[in-house]
Amino acid sequence: TPGIRPLIAGNWKMHGTLRDAAALAEAVRAGAPAGVDLLICPPFVHLHVVAAAMLGQPVAVGGQDCHAAAKGAHTGDVAAVMLRDVGATHVILGHSERRADHGETDAGVRAKAEAAIGAGLTPIICVGETLAQREAGEAEAVVAAQVKGSLPEGFLAAGGVVAYEPVWAIGTGRTPTEADIAAIHAVLRGLTSPATRLLYGGSVKPANAKAILGLPHVDGALVGGASLVAADFLAIAGAA
Ligand code: G3P
Repeated sequence: TPGIRPLIAGNWKMHGTLRDAAALAEAVRAGAPAGVDLLICPPFVHLHVVAAAMLGQPVAVGGQDCHAAAKGAHTGDVAAVMLRDVGATHVILGHSERRADHGETDAGVRAKAEAAIGAGLTPIICVGETLAQREAGEAEAVVAAQVKGSLPEGFLAAGGVVAYEPVWAIGTGRTPTEADIAAIHAVLRGLTSPATRLLYGGSVKPANAKAILGLPHVDGALVGGASLVAADFLAIAGAA
């Protein structure tokens, strides 16, 4: 989108050792192209070390989730303020894997996003339909409902990011048609602002990055598997 600097974000999910994370971050830093914002989202236990290494570098670091509360008796959870404290600037929220594995709802995602904004983090809220919903012709309605339910007040003003990740395209090598991606992103644009960054995620690879990133209202990518290989992630960034 004219006037929006592309954002290429890597969601490392639950992969690798601390040593792997440090090496991957360093390789991304060393190859970071100009003109594109880069974000890497390591597992919680690796985040502090990676964020410290990326301090002052052109690679931002984010969490993959946060709790809605600032502190308290929430065993195993991590607060948005804690992410900010150790150097994160972004947080992915409402990823379909968390919606599926942890029963996250739109209202719960909205509460987390409020906490993230309050802590000074940029939330990246994920939405996307299942294959059954796509086949039933419900994709646009499902995504619109998720956006309306998950984005808190103040989200657009805070520079919040929305990522469209069709559930059936994640880790499968399958992607929607370019027309289908463009149609969903047009819906997202109508529900957000002209300045909101809209990312596509789901089997983004060096081979399809240029075509996807060239679509209207696609302002970057949220990359899973290919973000674990520095050369692939940088090739995707280079295509933006
Ligand atoms: O959050 C990004 C992710 O869900 C996409 O995963 O492996 O299909 O790029 P992948």
